[in-house]
Amino acid sequence: MLLPSLPVLCRRALPFSRAFACAMTLTATLLTQTPASAADLPRVVLLATGGTIAGAADPRSQSGYNAGAVSAEALLASVPGIGMHAQLTAEQIASIGSQDMNESVWFQLAQRIDALAKDPGVAGIVITHGTDTMEETALFLDLVTATDKPIVLVGAMRPSTAVSADGPRNLLEAVMVAADPKAKGRGALVVLNDTIHGARDVTKTNTVSVQTFQSLNFGAVGGVSPDAVAFYAPPAPRRHLDLPAAGPLPRVEIIYAYAGVDAAPVDAAVKSGARGLVLAGVGDGNASKATIAALQAAAKAGIPVVRASRTGSGPVLRNIELNDDELGFSAAAFYAPAKARVLLQLLIANGRITPAQVQPAYLPD
Ligand code: SIN
Repeated sequence: MLLPSLPVLCRRALPFSRAFACAMTLTATLLTQTPASAADLPRVVLLATGGTIAGAADPRSQSGYNAGAVSAEALLASVPGIGMHAQLTAEQIASIGSQDMNESVWFQLAQRIDALAKDPGVAGIVITHGTDTMEETALFLDLVTATDKPIVLVGAMRPSTAVSADGPRNLLEAVMVAADPKAKGRGALVVLNDTIHGARDVTKTNTVSVQTFQSLNFGAVGGVSPDAVAFYAPPAPRRHLDLPAAGPLPRVEIIYAYAGVDAAPVDAAVKSGARGLVLAGVGDGNASKATIAALQAAAKAGIPVVRASRTGSGPVLRNIELNDDELGFSAAAFYAPAKARVLLQLLIANGRITPAQVQPAYLPD
């Protein structure tokens, strides 16, 4: 009974930087006092999709590797002590680098999660995934799944054969989070390098660092060590959008703004059949006059336009540098361009197309 309230007590009593260490110490003490027998452990299902976490060395260079080469079972077998936290089963959904992540795998994951959500014997789900597009998959699953059960995405920055591979520890901690009742009702989470992130804010920030994932606007939602799981605040309200019965999702293109950009990228996107456009704008989601004029024409033609920023953090708000009311645009607020795109795909799939229908989905709670 005491366990869930420890992080909260620590947060009340201590400054933020010391609260996590406090919660870890207190929780670890309690965990060592209450060992569980294997049959009592929660059941966690691993859905493997590939990525560097399942990568194996390739002789082309010192750090060269092939993503997705190691099976789900072999991944689990490589983590000492993982069976002390959960009863585990593994399913291979895909074996791809996440640069090749696609709607077909997204739909398979969403459908499998729905089935596992209905199984009362399953406590949580872990998805192994490449880090490159993990944030997009996390947001997609966060939006289209309705279960309270933890859905935890995990990856690694170093392949399984590397010196100091980070995958085994990340996987251990992901399983711990998925098995932890405190993770319920938080939607899709991303676990990497002892840190727990929410799907909306998390983003990959570094090409090589094991601390690549950051939640640049609101901060991580929790921390994890091989001894304990702690969350810094109660779960935020969930948002839900229905998954269309079958793919494909509507085509939504991202227009990247830069000095000297003209209307050509917007025109090409519209010509390619885009049903929605996201601007990865400069600064506050802005772009050259030519680009804005082309986007305005697209919006007038019924193609929803959402302005985000290429800066990486901070909000893009309505009617600051541009008159969104007049232009017919929506502002992405805290959604980074790649995630603003996933959200717009689902909004369009749910028939939400006008700025009045689109804009509220981007606003914070
Ligand atoms: C990928 O995203 O599949 C490659 C990079 C990684 O997993 O870290």
